[in-house]
Amino acid sequence: MASQHVLAEPATAAIFLVATVDDGGVDGVRDLLADLAGLTRAVAFRSPGDRLTCVAGVGARIWDGLYGEPRPAGLHPFQELAGSKHTAIATPGDLLFHLRARRMDLCFELARQIGLRLSGLATVVDEVHAFKYFDQRDVLGFVDGTENPDDEDAVAAVVVGEEDPSFAGSSYVIVQKYVHDMAAWQANSVEEQERVIGRSKVDDIEMPDSIKPKNSHIALNVIEDEDGNELDIVRDNMVFGNIADGSFGTYFIGYAKTPDVIEQMLRNMFIGDPPGNYDRILDFSTVLTGNLFFVPTADFLEAQPD
Ligand code: HEM
Repeated sequence: MASQHVLAEPATAAIFLVATVDDGGVDGVRDLLADLAGLTRAVAFRSPGDRLTCVAGVGARIWDGLYGEPRPAGLHPFQELAGSKHTAIATPGDLLFHLRARRMDLCFELARQIGLRLSGLATVVDEVHAFKYFDQRDVLGFVDGTENPDDEDAVAAVVVGEEDPSFAGSSYVIVQKYVHDMAAWQANSVEEQERVIGRSKVDDIEMPDSIKPKNSHIALNVIEDEDGNELDIVRDNMVFGNIADGSFGTYFIGYAKTPDVIEQMLRNMFIGDPPGNYDRILDFSTVLTGNLFFVPTADFLEAQPD
């Protein structure tokens, strides 16, 4: 079963489209998803070196209407997580299109083609055009993506296996759009910012455990199973911003073979581990969206009858 391009190279340009399916739209959406690989090829072929890819995700609310039985074992709506100070909110979204390339014009052209096909079937409720800052940095100035697993470790982290045989080769994805209080962030010294993240800013080296704060982003996001094996996800966070309204943000996207791993990270961040010891990155970030999607294989999407 050919997976979608979940494990594309880290993008320099990306567009994230989240859409809700309109009443009566499911048949047309199913057709679009079946044609998506072909549409992507048509745009990508015009500039093959620029690695245009598109991953489509399907939300829990629309699964039954689109595909019925069987149902992916881990598919459910994004669960809101309310901590003592910060809440990971759940927002509407039946479809995700994650477009990546080395050039924004390719992402834009494919987004335009998808938009034409979605017209009258679904409503785009969130659209973010995003990029990576200089040497893979986020807008907070830290290198973002370093500890992503590579090669077979990445496959092991994101690809559903025999635990759900009907959907082997698929993945799950969670997205959240964050905006940062840049004035408050920049009021911190670099040393204080490093204590928030848990890595050095210029060199991107992880702090030793002896000095890494327990509420740093790294401390709360390194999680293990009961046998002490580290549980990985694959992220491809991107920067977005708007000078006129002063909004600067991070679009978080995390893929995994089960949503449980990402949800555990989110519990650690928002509720805290132990509860109350929440992620300090949240004191400088406001989360505006939260969605969970299933990412079927390319073969599954294409094989749907007209
Ligand atoms: C690591 C930024 C949200 C999970 C990192 C790193 C940075 C970063 C700079 C260190 C370098 C790296 O390994 O990538 C951000 C920003 C976020 C955000 C700016 C939005 C406010 C999230 C969320 C999750 C998450 C929502 C999970 C639900 C992780 C994981 C690591 C990481 C698993 C790697 C930990 C390790 O193995 O060392 N993030 N992140 N991040 N982040 Fe985030």
